[in-house]
Amino acid sequence: MKSVFDPTVETRKVVMKCPRAGDLLKNYRIDYVQNGSKPIGEAINERSLNSIDVMNELNTLYEKNRDNQRGMTKWEKQKVNALIQYIIDAHHSYLYMVLPKLQSMITTIFNKHVGTHPELSHVHYLFSILKIELEQHILIEEELIFPKILAYEKKPTLNALIDIKEFVEDLKREHEHISQFLKDMREFTNDYKAPDDACETYRLAYVKLDELESDLFQHLHLENNLLFPRVIG
Ligand SMILES: [Fe+2]
Ligand SMILES: [Fe+2]
Repeated sequence: MKSVFDPTVETRKVVMKCPRAGDLLKNYRIDYVQNGSKPIGEAINERSLNSIDVMNELNTLYEKNRDNQRGMTKWEKQKVNALIQYIIDAHHSYLYMVLPKLQSMITTIFNKHVGTHPELSHVHYLFSILKIELEQHILIEEELIFPKILAYEKKPTLNALIDIKEFVEDLKREHEHISQFLKDMREFTNDYKAPDDACETYRLAYVKLDELESDLFQHLHLENNLLFPRVIG
């Protein structure tokens, strides 16, 4: 059987065709959001992984999920407004729900364990800034930029396109910043591994932070690799 992915395929295209590959790439610390245009073979080599094994894993994952992926990979053909609505419903709603809960958990574990785990002061600080950035970011998307994109879809004009392009560049810069926060967070949390003496809340906070990272990767991937190219080319 012919493999669907070869090492020259762009990393973002792998996740566009096989959304479940996002988690696999995350486990291998391959960034499909900020380095989405890099060929997958190159990204694998940079991580010093076995290229044949990882390519096999990706191709097997695609084959296994071939049927239920059809519904998940429709974004390239769907209307822009459907994609925007999905981003708001699936990813922005998740952030509105999870960020305050995580803030409270991280403040609790910071107060309780910072004496024995000083790295928690970095985790607490980083998360607090990330939360503020994310809340502002998704609000600007929902209140300002997504409406501009929807208006442009209805009535495309050159001026509107130029305006949207500038805003999209700002959003992409913010996405880079968010990605950097996630990298730093991973470092300070020892890849989200709670220490042996961690309490239940400590462990749960790290599990939830890891989930936040996965969700943000999918979220930023949909915007950077699918939504923005659809609108500004
Ligand atoms: Fe967003
Ligand atoms: Fe965004």
